[in-house]
Amino acid sequence: MNTLLTLPENKSTVSDPPKAVTYEELGSVGLIRIDNPPVNALNQEVRNRLAEALAQATNSPRVKIVLIISGGKTFSAGADLKEFDREMTDPSLQQLQAAIEMMPVPVVAAICGLALGGGLELALACHYRLAHEDARLGLPEITLGIVPGAGGTQRLPRLIGSRPALEMIVSGTPITAAEAKSKGLVDEVAEGDLRDSAIKFCEQLVRDGSKPRPTRDLAAADSLDESMIAAVLGAHARALKSRTTQRLVIDAVKAATLPFAQGIEVEAAIAKKSLASPESLALRHIFFAERGSSKVEGVPEHATHPDIGQVAIVGAGTMGTGIAMAFADAGRSVTLIDNDETALARSKDIIRSTYASGIKRGRISQETADERIARISGSTDLSCVSAADIAIEAVFEDMDLKKRVLSQLDSVLPPQRLIATNTSTLSITELGHATAHPRRVLGLHFFVPAQASKLLEIVRGKESSPDTVATALHVAKLLRKVPVVSGDAFGFIGNRMMLDGYFREAEQLLLEGASPQQVDAALEQFGFAMGPQRVSDLGGNDVGTKVRIQLYQRESRPDPYFVLADRLTELGRLGQKTGRGFYRYEQGGRDALPDPDVDRLIEKLASQRGIVRSSIDDKEIVERCILALINVGAVVLEEGIAFRASDVDVVWTSGYGFPRHLGGPMFYADTLGIGHVAARIRHYQRRLGPYWRPAGLIEKLERENSSFGQWDRQRKAAMAKPGE
Ligand SMILES: NC(=O)c1ccc[n+]([C@@H]2O[C@H](COP(=O)([O-])OP(=O)(O)OC[C@H]3O[C@@H](n4cnc5c(N)ncnc54)[C@H](O)[C@@H]3O)[C@@H](O)[C@H]2O)c1
Repeated sequence: MNTLLTLPENKSTVSDPPKAVTYEELGSVGLIRIDNPPVNALNQEVRNRLAEALAQATNSPRVKIVLIISGGKTFSAGADLKEFDREMTDPSLQQLQAAIEMMPVPVVAAICGLALGGGLELALACHYRLAHEDARLGLPEITLGIVPGAGGTQRLPRLIGSRPALEMIVSGTPITAAEAKSKGLVDEVAEGDLRDSAIKFCEQLVRDGSKPRPTRDLAAADSLDESMIAAVLGAHARALKSRTTQRLVIDAVKAATLPFAQGIEVEAAIAKKSLASPESLALRHIFFAERGSSKVEGVPEHATHPDIGQVAIVGAGTMGTGIAMAFADAGRSVTLIDNDETALARSKDIIRSTYASGIKRGRISQETADERIARISGSTDLSCVSAADIAIEAVFEDMDLKKRVLSQLDSVLPPQRLIATNTSTLSITELGHATAHPRRVLGLHFFVPAQASKLLEIVRGKESSPDTVATALHVAKLLRKVPVVSGDAFGFIGNRMMLDGYFREAEQLLLEGASPQQVDAALEQFGFAMGPQRVSDLGGNDVGTKVRIQLYQRESRPDPYFVLADRLTELGRLGQKTGRGFYRYEQGGRDALPDPDVDRLIEKLASQRGIVRSSIDDKEIVERCILALINVGAVVLEEGIAFRASDVDVVWTSGYGFPRHLGGPMFYADTLGIGHVAARIRHYQRRLGPYWRPAGLIEKLERENSSFGQWDRQRKAAMAKPGE
């Protein structure tokens, strides 16, 4: 018996619930099956049972080889993430691996589905590996700011070489079984039934007299030189922008040149450091925030929703066309309705060219593209929506027009079915009242391009029913989008914070003396993929102007409020599409070039307002834009438009380019400390005037020495105990 493991007592009885790991003997093969749905997370129960099964196999005189296999579709997606925040109880994954490596008989891992993180590290400690042809293998820990800590950085370089290992760990992207075979990560790729192939593979090893082959005993890995490191970092420069975990990964992989016992100690220390890093805390926060955003107050988690096979979309413009492709990609049939034949023809062309470019980039096959195109049909007759399971309106942003369309939809679509509007500015409640069934109306705020963007804001009108919200959450899942539920107020969560906070401040800085390129560069350095003026030029300055026209019909804002952007629209400087905007663009080019005409316009608008322009440093630019964003985020929370601070973080990281590794604006505020945030807002209030009043919620959290995270936890606890 292996002495490394302290085994739990075996107290199983016939009436025990299904075991997470089972053990049986098939001739000379000791078969260990992991059965912990949905993804075979290696939690404590699984580790206990694995230790128990390994001990049984060791003690059995019949067993000549051990096979570890999954009872489900996936080998293992890795550790239970919740365990990262506490001390892991024995047996640890490392103890299990040591036990496997010391087994007197060979141990084989048969990999189906995914072997990720700790799941792959478990397989790396096995003596032989066999993967199903559809399997994917990877160490994606870097996406959570973590360095693999169960031998991944030591065993992988020994098996496949330091550079390929560094590439796999830094990219975080899983590789296919075929790639794994060519790199020497797996011994065989199996087709058909994996269990049968794996048993045959084991029997062959026994016949060949194969011995245990612990990865730790392989020669130390080759060393990494600086050019290899630069090549790997260069290949992932975009994803790694402003990130730090890759530096720790490099140090850990370099330690694979040491004797195994020393290397593993270095890895353990680095992995521990990564877990405590601000980057990892932020990335793990956003990981859980995205999973939590579909839990909505008043909507039962397992609420029923209709099957959605057939979707009707009214308005075949930019948004309607993108939304149609999103549903077609999800395998649903779509009818696109437009009253303009030319719009339908244009939409058809866009759909064809979008899929053609997908084929060109190797993202989809011709066959898949043909299937998806065939799922979308066009019509000018709105009455044909009666067979649809849901209808989505995406016509021009005009209240009267949208009311008419919604009322028509209401009369042809059976009363239980969801009617959604893709408005970006109008009141969902008012639109709902244009129908006889306002309970089934809500907003589905898609982003451009709708077929690829990750975020879906679900806007709840005053009358929208819980069932309607549940159906919308189901739609988000179907489309693989991250849903965030918003209240019905101007700009919802994201656009409100963008207009009243982030972009407003960016323009203010221009009037006070900064240049568009300075503001953009400072915020890109902070971590945004693109600065605010470049974003405006890309989307079109007219889009924002139209939104503000709608805003002024509902509310007012003190001057100056987007005076520059709206003037650019008036001048026809709409951005990239007209070759001029905040910047100028060469014919067909995308490079944003400074334009002296814009500088002169800014000077004029500033002097009209008596603003004396002077130089502003990058630090102030970033601080003011981010504090403004945080302050409006707090207002959105106190008004109940967003329910959780973590929802605001999801909106901004998945829809507006806020750097994920900073966790979103509200998490970032907590990182800075609420006291500091409040003090800096007051500093600008003294210097710049009343716009800079701290939000009531920020003052409350400051008084209570609390944080947005704490506020969320209190609300979650209150939600769990209704009536208290
Ligand atoms: N474009 C964006 O960036 C964006 C982002 C999010 C939401 N939205 C919102 O999505 C909606 C659509 O925007 P878009 O950019 O796709 O507009 P668009 O101008 O590209 O398309 C609107 C389409 O609606 C059609 N239409 C007009 N009246 C109709 C009617 N009575 N029946 C059927 N079809 C009719 C038009 O022919 C046109 O093809 C708007 O409410 C907009 O605010 C737009």
